[in-house]
Amino acid sequence: MTRKGIILAGGSGTRLYPITIGVSKQLLPVYDKPMIYYPLTVLMLAGIREIAVITTPDDQEQFQRLMGDGSQWGLSITWLKQPRPEGLAQAYLLAEEFLAGAPSAMVLGDNLFFGHGLPELLAKAGAREVGGTVFGYRVADPERYGVVDFAPDGEVRAIIEKPEVAPSRYAVTGLYFLDGTAPERARAVQPSARGELEIVSVLESYLADGGLGVEQMGRGYAWLDTGTLGSLLDAGNFVRTLSERQGQQIGSPDEVAHMLGWIDDAALEARAKLFGKNAYGAYLRSLLG
Ligand code: DAU
Repeated sequence: MTRKGIILAGGSGTRLYPITIGVSKQLLPVYDKPMIYYPLTVLMLAGIREIAVITTPDDQEQFQRLMGDGSQWGLSITWLKQPRPEGLAQAYLLAEEFLAGAPSAMVLGDNLFFGHGLPELLAKAGAREVGGTVFGYRVADPERYGVVDFAPDGEVRAIIEKPEVAPSRYAVTGLYFLDGTAPERARAVQPSARGELEIVSVLESYLADGGLGVEQMGRGYAWLDTGTLGSLLDAGNFVRTLSERQGQQIGSPDEVAHMLGWIDDAALEARAKLFGKNAYGAYLRSLLG
């Protein structure tokens, strides 16, 4: 079965108040693009064309205005609502019907990935038919994340959500490749002490079956999160520094769709027209040669 995508873009965004009182966090700019473009292009680079976007009921209309049905990028977008932020694992329950037994790749709407070889890493995870793959990334402050606990022989023993004392420096990123059993496993999850259906509980279930691979995302990758005001600004500066130096966009679904042959020159030109003479429009036009 073809792997489907999920972008989880709900949540309350309280850490960014007052900014996110009026607008969803995942619609905020990361330099020159809405935040959700970055995780969206990661799913596209994984070859995924059927994507469910999960938002809060209030914010859905704005996301729809931005992304529509996805056909401008050769995608098919299904819109789902999460009434309350009751945990990452809930995404699999909300998307169960959409997935219809298919394997999935879920990405958090506020996670940014960048690095040479990313498509190959995604292809490897995508090729795994049974079990799941998550990505471990070394960070200075692992306590803020789900953290990998390695046994002395290097085996993954557990994944612990926001441990007081981190068992390693390896955080689990917000990108989860899981097989078709994810919704069924999510159904068995009980709310945690903080009242959420935790993604790590789903991962634990795969670990218990010996079915979870943890791929290292090495130091050549950037995994940026945008959870705080500082990290949001840092992510924007990162995108600006790199894209201006190289003259190439990061996280453009228009470029990726064209590169993958999902839209033709005429469709890209139509998109470029929409942006008029601005820099993004000029960039898209430059891809037409
Ligand atoms: O970013 C990676 C981390 O994401 C992982 O290492 C953790 O294991 C995982 O639990 C998660 O931790 P966070 O503390 O970042 O989760 P947070 O509650 O901030 O939610 C992450 C994003 O998902 C955020 O943009 C809001 C959205 N969200 C969150 C919840 C709980 C939803 O859309 N719905 C929800 O129910």
